[in-house]
Amino acid sequence: MSKGLFISFEGPDGSGKTTQIKLLSEYLEAKGTECVLTREPGGTKVSEEIRGILLDRANAGMSYTAEALLYAAARAQLVAEVIKPALNDGKAVLCDRFVDSSAVYQGMARGLGVEEIYTLNEFALDGIRPELTIHLDLSAEEGLRRKTKQAELDRMESEPDSFHRLVAEGYRELAKLEPERIKTIDASLPVEEIQEMIRGFVDGLK
Ligand code: TMP
Repeated sequence: MSKGLFISFEGPDGSGKTTQIKLLSEYLEAKGTECVLTREPGGTKVSEEIRGILLDRANAGMSYTAEALLYAAARAQLVAEVIKPALNDGKAVLCDRFVDSSAVYQGMARGLGVEEIYTLNEFALDGIRPELTIHLDLSAEEGLRRKTKQAELDRMESEPDSFHRLVAEGYRELAKLEPERIKTIDASLPVEEIQEMIRGFVDGLK
């Protein structure tokens, strides 16, 4: 068993995960817990290179299976190089997306199947699972409205609205399946209010 604390953050594109992760790390660090902030796909040299392939709009013809395997490959490297060592050192790992993103985007929205995705990822996870997952719930429309302020959309963001609706709905379904681990918060609430709720969930862990 690892000594650290592993918390993942999930939700549609533009749901404010990055801001909340940063605020939570400030809270934990102030209490003396060293934090490692990372993201998926990415967080290591190899995983960032895989991220480049996954999000490159030039790769529009990628098969859904290849996509799922590439996300799992990026995850395997992040687990081995960053997450596992940090947890063994007793640190808190705050991860922007983890395996639940694959369950929702590839398993549900692409239709590969949630069980199939979790099974595929067992090999990548090496027994590592988040103790707590914060799901920032945002309607697909609001998520895209926030994102369209960006100059250019990546391969996943440029999927049609119907895909993003499946993602938003998929997260709600997944949260219902594992209510003990996955805590849903309305992402349209003020940033400080969301952070208060997250801190409450984290404090309730021990
Ligand atoms: P982000 O860094 O903006 O969240 O970009 C990552 C994109 O990849 C986002 O659209 C969600 C998607 N994604 C998956 O489809 N499956 C996964 O397993 C992960 C981690 C992300």
